Amino acid sequence: MEKVQMNSTHEERIKQATEAVREQAKTIDSTYRLGYHLMAPSGWINDPNGLIFYKGEYHAFYQHHPYDATHGPMHWGHAKSRDLIHWEHLPVALAPGNAFDTSGCFSGSAVEGDDMLTLIYTGHNVTDSGSDEFFQNQNIARSKDGLVFEKATENPVIPQQPEGTTQDFRDPKVWKHGDKWYMVVGSTEKEGRRGQVLLYASSNLSNWVYLGVLAHSDGTEGYMWECPDFFELDGKHILLISPQGIEAEGERYLNHHQTGFLIGDFDYETLTYTRGTFTELDFGHDFYAVQTFKDEKGRRIAFGWMDMWESPMPTQAHGWSGAFTLPRELSMSNQGRLLMNPVEEVAQLRKEEVPLDIEAVQDEEVLLPLAGEMIELELSLKTGTTTECGVKLRCSEDGGEETVLSFHAKEDKLVLDRSRSGKGVSGIRTGLVEASESLDLRIFVDRSSVEVFVNGGETVLTSRIYPSEGSTGVKLFSRGGDVQLSSIRGYRLKDTWSE
Ligand code: FRU
Repeated sequence: MEKVQMNSTHEERIKQATEAVREQAKTIDSTYRLGYHLMAPSGWINDPNGLIFYKGEYHAFYQHHPYDATHGPMHWGHAKSRDLIHWEHLPVALAPGNAFDTSGCFSGSAVEGDDMLTLIYTGHNVTDSGSDEFFQNQNIARSKDGLVFEKATENPVIPQQPEGTTQDFRDPKVWKHGDKWYMVVGSTEKEGRRGQVLLYASSNLSNWVYLGVLAHSDGTEGYMWECPDFFELDGKHILLISPQGIEAEGERYLNHHQTGFLIGDFDYETLTYTRGTFTELDFGHDFYAVQTFKDEKGRRIAFGWMDMWESPMPTQAHGWSGAFTLPRELSMSNQGRLLMNPVEEVAQLRKEEVPLDIEAVQDEEVLLPLAGEMIELELSLKTGTTTECGVKLRCSEDGGEETVLSFHAKEDKLVLDRSRSGKGVSGIRTGLVEASESLDLRIFVDRSSVEVFVNGGETVLTSRIYPSEGSTGVKLFSRGGDVQLSSIRGYRLKDTWSE
């Protein structure tokens, strides 16, 4: 389908994009379509945007290219849910093509202001595609019904980046503190090419005052900090960032870009942020551009983009690509560690428990009676004398395909190996776990994804996999000794899109 010309109205562009997505959805190849994760009906998606609980419903927006399964002029796709589990697709919310967002409506956030759902997003404007010259600004769009969005006449609300920063000026995240609005924006310091986060304030969402740099890279933490998010959690101030350009270091930072957090303290009077070191939030192959929001129960809920720039995406040939992770609740442990666990509503996905009567694995491999493309497995292991133990997921009968999650007892690390996970993908990722005799795993498998929550959310690994439909086996294994199972539970999960 042809893209709309710049002289059309926003309403016309929205209509055309929404129709294109619906039309393409009819011919999509559903082989790897996820059963219980949020995806667009068709086309490309990347970052979660505008997450908000608004008038009794959860709204999720996402970076979206409605006309193709590759990244292109960014729109905002839109879906809503009453329970974070069952999603309803809505018309495309934002289409680029106004004077201030000629080439894309890039990432941003949502707030409720003046009884309206207000989106704050980056206008991306390419000035010379040959030399990658562009400018970025911040804009708002409002909706009375949470469905149809009108770009504000006062756009751009922040026309350009502050002095001393580069053209990279994007991904506004807005929140209210007291009677003021605050905004963090991702940026690069011109002089040292360091990633940084800028802070702004406003009394009305339209007029913004630049307050300064909230935090910046120490020189090893990347040249551009994308998708910042800043919030208080149990008395601490967490800054989430997605830095570009952190160098790989052994088994760390192997993805094209990283997503992680800083834990610190912020003083709204002096606007100073004292912070700890950068830590990855998820150690899998496919987790980026996480965004959070606070819901009506006071929970801090996060969704990540369950893919990664430069990752192989075999579903592009099928007419779609990109998905959200499961909704995850962030909390702080008593020891001051940031934990990430699936929200409790995820238990609604359980369609049937499969009895798993097994107490130990003794230097062997055991096939569980829990075959399926969509399953949850919850287990507590006493690692005993074993040197290596774990779970093999999405195994084929002939042993040719499997995704291996193995705990290496001596090094206290958990390795997710997708060398034999099916189409396109490869490579291992490693998560460190606290030294202990026992290990708790909660594993979610969907048609083309694996999410592993370790020891109550201290470590998380998320990766896309593309096994054959028939590769549905699950095995436990141990090497060099015995593993005791203090508990094990398996469930078949619902396809929320069709059941
Ligand atoms: C992060 C990102 C953002 C940008 C958006 C464009 O994945 O690069 O910085 O706003 O994607 O789609």
